Amino acid sequence: MSDTTIRLVDQRYLARPMPQAPMAGASPGPTRDALGRALRDVRLSVTDRCNFRCGYCMPKSVFDHHYAFLPQAALLSFEEITRLARVFLHLGTEKIRLTGGEPLLRKNLEVLVEMLAALRNPKGHPPELALTSNGALLRRKAQLLRSAGLDRITVSLDAIDDAIFRKMNDVDFPVEQVLDGIRAAEEAGFRSLKINMVVQRGLNDSQILPMVENFRHRGHVLRFIEFMDVGSSNGWNLDAVLPSAGILRQIASAYRLHPLEPQYAGEVAERWMLDDGSLEIGLISSVTSPFCAGCTRARVSTEGRLYTCLFASEGWDLRALLRTGASDEAISESLRQVWAQRSDRYSELRSFASRKARAERRIEMSYIGG
Ligand code: GTP
Ligand code: 5AD
Ligand code: SF4
Ligand code: SF4
Repeated sequence: MSDTTIRLVDQRYLARPMPQAPMAGASPGPTRDALGRALRDVRLSVTDRCNFRCGYCMPKSVFDHHYAFLPQAALLSFEEITRLARVFLHLGTEKIRLTGGEPLLRKNLEVLVEMLAALRNPKGHPPELALTSNGALLRRKAQLLRSAGLDRITVSLDAIDDAIFRKMNDVDFPVEQVLDGIRAAEEAGFRSLKINMVVQRGLNDSQILPMVENFRHRGHVLRFIEFMDVGSSNGWNLDAVLPSAGILRQIASAYRLHPLEPQYAGEVAERWMLDDGSLEIGLISSVTSPFCAGCTRARVSTEGRLYTCLFASEGWDLRALLRTGASDEAISESLRQVWAQRSDRYSELRSFASRKARAERRIEMSYIGG
């Protein structure tokens, strides 16, 4: 077998057929999992491709020109995605986040946004629609997305220093173009953007204070994310994780700040505010302070696999249901059953996981979008 063939086989993660008949233990009523968690958020990946090669997500050594990205025919169409989203809304989902890879690489994404924005839940409410992007194409897309009905944008940005940023994205992409994308989003009317910085000790921890300084007085929220062991190819090790406590110490050495109350139960980020009110800061501590107890997130990959945890190694084949004539009711019942048996809490169990379990082939962040 050639190296390319091995990769082709390799990148197909395991998929289970969705249940078709009621399972033992599944019950109608509110959509709660086995640990009592609702199905409140759905993260839909719209492409597995990206124009960046961040080392912690799509290292060049793996995602090179041999890598077999999904073919067009494998992707869920906008109609299929919208149909799924409608079913999720009827199960109680309130928030839909579009992710990638880099979602703005999906052609005509604004058309999908418009289709999703027209959906209503049984109470007549539209979903809250958000997007996570690396910002590279925002100058071109921000106004179109706003007009189509997108509510919120999160931009990933790991450094403000151009040389460090170019090294982090590993395609020599200039930071100025992302900053211009953020300005384009502001001009299009997006407020309170979230700026996500994944912190890696020794690589970009020198950027914590410059990032704070850069984003003061802009009305955005700057969030620092602990480097996580997602997937199997990012060479994660605990030494590279700068715990949120250390990040906070750095910020507190330069600014006075105070904690803020959570806005809702199960919020991913712990929130802080600089005392002068110039910047809200979030700390996302999946490694040192896991938040599985409030995890209400389902994830759907580009080709329609449902994952009940970011660290799953196996997904459920929703696409097969969609493409074999299942009714909305059947899909809904099937989703409810999968959710009812969900007991994932990987981050809470991480420290107990054996080396073998950690080495197990898991889905990559670029495949499921964070
Ligand atoms: P909003 O509150 O809607 O803005 O979204 P969010 O708080 O879920 O944040 P976002 O989608 O921007 O997630 C930020 C980062 O937190 C992700 O890129 C991941 O790195 C991490 N994260 C988000 N959800 C999870 C999760 O369910 N599990 C783990 N372990 N990490 C997560
Ligand atoms: N650890 C933490 N966050 C990650 N992201 C991607 N890979 C990782 C990782 N290993 C984040 C990106 C982006 C979102 C899509 O996921 O920075 O904000
Ligand atoms: Fe692309 Fe985001 Fe992954 Fe970087 S973190 S390679 S920008 S998907
Ligand atoms: Fe949710 Fe899994 Fe992340 Fe825990 S590790 S918060 S269960 S996605």
